[in-house]
Amino acid sequence: MKGDKGARVKPLAPRIMAKRVFSGVQPSGSLTIGNYLGALRNFAKLQHEAECLFCVVDLHALTVPQDPKELHQRTLDVARIFVASGIDPDLATIFVQSHVPAHAELSWLLECTTYDGELRRMTQYKEKAARQEVVTSGLLTYPVLMAADILLYQADEVPVGDDQKQHLELARDIAVRVNNRFDEEIFKVPEPYIPPKTAGGRIMNLQDATEKMSKSAENPRGNIAILDSPDEIRRKIKSAVTDSGREIYYDEVNKPAISNLMVIYSLCSGQSLDEIKSAYVGSGYGQFKSDLAEVVVETLAPIQKRFTELSEPGVIEAILAEGRRKAEPLALPTLRRFQDRLGLLALS
Ligand code: TYM
Repeated sequence: MKGDKGARVKPLAPRIMAKRVFSGVQPSGSLTIGNYLGALRNFAKLQHEAECLFCVVDLHALTVPQDPKELHQRTLDVARIFVASGIDPDLATIFVQSHVPAHAELSWLLECTTYDGELRRMTQYKEKAARQEVVTSGLLTYPVLMAADILLYQADEVPVGDDQKQHLELARDIAVRVNNRFDEEIFKVPEPYIPPKTAGGRIMNLQDATEKMSKSAENPRGNIAILDSPDEIRRKIKSAVTDSGREIYYDEVNKPAISNLMVIYSLCSGQSLDEIKSAYVGSGYGQFKSDLAEVVVETLAPIQKRFTELSEPGVIEAILAEGRRKAEPLALPTLRRFQDRLGLLALS
């Protein structure tokens, strides 16, 4: 967003882009540095080279119990974090999933072309279901709604972290299946945009380097939230688990915890893993961790400042209303065409 105090400067002409990008983030917890490094950072880059749609996927969050007030607040906060982390609402479309009912409509149609076995095989379903006392059918069909989000917009590319790979493969399979059935390209088959682990594709939990960092984790000590205060960040990094030995080098197998901290350091500072290794020869974990904390604090400070500015009532709501106005007309032609091919009666 350009201009002072939220004054928005409209681009002079619509931008014609060769590629369309779609991605979504669930308002299911306080976003972490894993979300930032694995996804949001890339959203902000891609907006300069593609037509981008970034969605707060509130319907996905409902697949596990949510406090209504918190969900409401987090939906606004995720949108604020989108903008605060560099997504420009004049370049990209930012909107809320439930504001465009076509997502839920397409999801149902796609559910009727997806096999129960495909959904039960999903790793995230198995992991999340094991943690729930009651497993809703929404948790099972979650990846179909995600496929609907993507296919509705004929997205070419989907920037996500590594944990979404299997869901994206399902979205591709569904698209190919529908296209084959009708012998027509109803849906574009989307390509994943997943950074390698060393580029943030999978940031791990600070207390357990075998688990990914997750915004919905029970123990927040393993996470760095984008909105954590500098002191919280310092405390969490200081208490992060380390590996045996005291040398600092990248080795995912033998030094998973230090390797994870090095990736965070590298992405926040712009230094390569080799540069970091050389800088800390013989200095031990203590110095490395306290420098890392400062690098993270500095990376998040401008995002936090911008987030606070965006908390003025009405600012983010206006961006989301504009986003819906731009997104819905892009979604409807695909939905209508698919409804027609399936034999559903057109509205008259
Ligand atoms: P969600 O809300 O869990 O996470 C948002 C994005 O952050 C990435 N991510 C990570 N990247 C690196 N390291 C981590 N520890 C880490 N944790 C999360 C996620 O991969 C994701 O890119 N199902 C999706 C939301 C979704 C979606 C979509 C994404 C719904 N519809 C359509 C793309 C396209 C999810 O739960 O992301």
